[in-house]
Amino acid sequence: VRKIWLSRHGESEYNQKGLIGGNSSLSERGERYSRALPGALIARLPQEQPVSVAVWTSTLKRTIETARFLPFPKLRWKALDEIDAGICDGMTYEQIAERYPQEYEARKKDKLRYRYPSGESYMDVIQRVEPVIIELERERESVLVVAHQAVLRAVYAYFMNVPPEDIPRLSMPLHTLIELTPMPDGTMSEQRFPLD
Ligand code: G3H
Repeated sequence: VRKIWLSRHGESEYNQKGLIGGNSSLSERGERYSRALPGALIARLPQEQPVSVAVWTSTLKRTIETARFLPFPKLRWKALDEIDAGICDGMTYEQIAERYPQEYEARKKDKLRYRYPSGESYMDVIQRVEPVIIELERERESVLVVAHQAVLRAVYAYFMNVPPEDIPRLSMPLHTLIELTPMPDGTMSEQRFPLD
């Protein structure tokens, strides 16, 4: 059976500092994840015959670096780039709360619809990933999607039928390989493999 795997990028230098957005490289810990990922993925493939996996990343360094050691063809999607935090890009959540308290509160109240000034909302991201989902549905090979927290929440929600209101707070931890397997009844079963 064809599978869909989802993974966030390994820990980035920005993650380490608690900064959102940006385009930083992996931290040492993130780098370790990028080296652990191929073995973990290959262990989940059928062992009888050689199979290929399509690896889809965003255009940001941290996902490209995370996929680096996977021995499969790769495709970069701009539509998989992380939610654009606009004027808050490169800040910590504490800095946002201090500098833009109304923005911080507005987001807390309605994280789904809140749009960062000069940036995006979760609603925007859900729309933006639609072409990727259409291709994922069409693809016959197994696919590993290496992307970002907000974007993967949207992709995961589509396959797992998560109601929109719950999407912005879905658990999407770092260093975890999520495996989705289509079931005969049309739903997906899920397994999570933490690689830390
Ligand atoms: O930088 C963006 C984060 O990955 C998205 O997280 O939507 O929970 O703030 P958040």
